[in-house]
Amino acid sequence: MKEKRTKIKEVLSSDLIGQKLMVMGWVRTKRESKSVAFIALNDGSTIHNLQVVANAESFEESTLKKITTGASLGVFGEIVPSQGAGQAFELQAESIEVYGEADPDKYPLQPKRHSLEFLREIAHLRPRTNTFSAIMRVRHSLAFAIHQFFNEKGFSYINTPIITSSDAEGAGETFHVTNFDLDQVPKTEDGQVDYKQDFFEKEANLTVSGQLEGELAAMALSEIYTFGPTFRAENSNTTRHLAEFWMIEPEMAFYDLQDNMNLAEEMLKYLVQYALDHCADDLQFLDKRAADEEKNKPQNERNELSLIERLRFVLENEFERVSYTEAIEILKRSKPNQKKKFQYLIEEWGADLQSEHERYLVEKHFKKPVILYNYPKDIKAFYMRQNDDGKTVGAMDILFPGIGEIIGGSQREERLDNLITRMKEMDIPVEEMQWYLDTRRYGAVPHSGYGLGFERMILFVTGMGNIRDVIPFPRTPGNCEF
Ligand code: 4AD
Ligand code: MG
Repeated sequence: MKEKRTKIKEVLSSDLIGQKLMVMGWVRTKRESKSVAFIALNDGSTIHNLQVVANAESFEESTLKKITTGASLGVFGEIVPSQGAGQAFELQAESIEVYGEADPDKYPLQPKRHSLEFLREIAHLRPRTNTFSAIMRVRHSLAFAIHQFFNEKGFSYINTPIITSSDAEGAGETFHVTNFDLDQVPKTEDGQVDYKQDFFEKEANLTVSGQLEGELAAMALSEIYTFGPTFRAENSNTTRHLAEFWMIEPEMAFYDLQDNMNLAEEMLKYLVQYALDHCADDLQFLDKRAADEEKNKPQNERNELSLIERLRFVLENEFERVSYTEAIEILKRSKPNQKKKFQYLIEEWGADLQSEHERYLVEKHFKKPVILYNYPKDIKAFYMRQNDDGKTVGAMDILFPGIGEIIGGSQREERLDNLITRMKEMDIPVEEMQWYLDTRRYGAVPHSGYGLGFERMILFVTGMGNIRDVIPFPRTPGNCEF
């Protein structure tokens, strides 16, 4: 009969001394003397390894030889008090099955610290490292916490389309979706691409945001959220941008901009608290890792707070709410602007903020998360609600230390005439968006929403420095491996 498997997390968190059980996992390291082998086994349920002790006399030499870093095992044995330092108990092996060997001359992961750059090249194997398995567990926990947060509040989870014919942000950064043979694209008489002959009989693309469809659902269910992949063909090779990333987009009927900010702040704090409560072991590991990384940075770029202190800090402080106009004044007077240290100098009202400005406000000036609101309409999307001053819209961005923008959102323009005028000014195809405009024609209400970049949130919670390291298989310009 096949023995029931016990997960290593359960073994390590219970007092099972004297019990016999079966564990399964992958070998992290093996230390060996003539008489005994110590095997560190990890099964991904926790950052910690279980020490397995195999006496040489009980096993064939050929079996022990197969047990190398990366090999997969099932081990049956008894939990006994440990003789060695480092663990309270260990598993005394009685039988070992080697499921799969990992040729030590070829297996790329050695029991030492590998660079993140190297690990990106073997992204198919990197979840087997401590760092990446910790990040993936935190990622899972945060995804779960997001659903729990909205579920507790009575929001409905909506799936918006991934293939669409609209460009919600209007920034023209979409990936085309087509079924054409690209060597023989059908053309119309006047030489244009004839999309009528394509799969959808019109131009289609991958979605950049589920917001517009989310708004439709909010006009019936009141409070909804989407949580799905979004795609942007922007050529930004930065540590904060992916071509494929996951976004959480709540949309709420009857919410104004203040309500929107309140919900966003509450949600971010909920997620941080959830991670502290449910990912303590992984966060402790990542905290230590981040502290080691800090040592390689120049003194003036080091974080004053450790990772876990930064998470606590977010929980314990109210976010600073500042209008764009106030922020511009602060930036104009700032030292890096006066001394021309910013790459993009802030000269006048209306300037788009770069991440250097966002990070100055958060990290140097306010020293806490900042919600910037009421941006100039010309640097924001067509759907944002126009303020009475004729110059600004009810936008809000949340800026986080070490990250910059983590959330972008707004109150939406619910007045049909205002919306159409703005769409025309911004060359948004009004005719094709009649379905969207219908929400303003029939039973329109004030409403608001925002988008949280899931990977940016994970960056913050794990203390990692590059967004490519918090998603299993990053897609960036020139990189679509695996
Ligand atoms: O500010 P963005 O572009 O806003 C929207 O898409 C709105 N439709 C959201 C809404 O109101 N429903 O994007 C929202 C967030 C950003 O604040 C950022 O965290 C993340 O998505 N984001 C990216 N994350 C990774 N890679 C990229 N290329 C990203 N672009 C935006
Ligand atoms: Mg934005």
